[in-house]
Amino acid sequence: MSVSIPPLISIGTIRTPYTVTAPYQPVKEDKGDFRIVIGPEYQDGLKELSRFQYIYVIYYIHRMEKEVSMVISPSWTDGARVGVFASRSPVRPNPIGISIVRIKKIINNEIHTSGLDVFDGTPLLDLKPYIKDLDVREDANYGWMEDLPDREHLILHIKGIPHDH
Ligand SMILES: C[S@@+](CC[C@H](N)C(=O)[O-])C[C@H]1O[C@@H](n2cnc3c(N)ncnc32)[C@H](O)[C@@H]1O
Repeated sequence: MSVSIPPLISIGTIRTPYTVTAPYQPVKEDKGDFRIVIGPEYQDGLKELSRFQYIYVIYYIHRMEKEVSMVISPSWTDGARVGVFASRSPVRPNPIGISIVRIKKIINNEIHTSGLDVFDGTPLLDLKPYIKDLDVREDANYGWMEDLPDREHLILHIKGIPHDH
């Protein structure tokens, strides 16, 4: 059952070095120019944002052309089959992505950040501050990933953390 909802609008553009491939999740120490350029009409909305270390970046996964399935097999697993809503797959009914990144500096309408996992030109939908205690859940777990035999190693891959094999 679907309901009628107001359309979303792009409030800016995410600039990254990635045009063909991008990391699976943001890589904290990624080198390169990562910037969120917000429309000048929204610049006042950044007031006090620089006081936070981290932000949620919410965006439209605009170049996705793959067909959506309700059950998927994440490419980084050895054949696990899980529901799309139990995954961070970019191929979903509403192609909306979310990434947590560190704010480096804000100059006028541009937010310079740590690494992002999106293609250059990705449309920005929203920004929210990541708030200590409010957003951290000490008892969070790995869900179905708990059962993966090589979980810790796979998670290093997803996070882009260099390691020996
Ligand atoms: C696995 S998704 C994770 C996105 C987000 N961190 C999340 O958890 O919702 C990241 C992948 O989406 C793909 N991607 C990123 N930006 C995209 C865009 N604008 N259009 C289509 N695919 C994109 C890239 O293949 C990238 O590796």
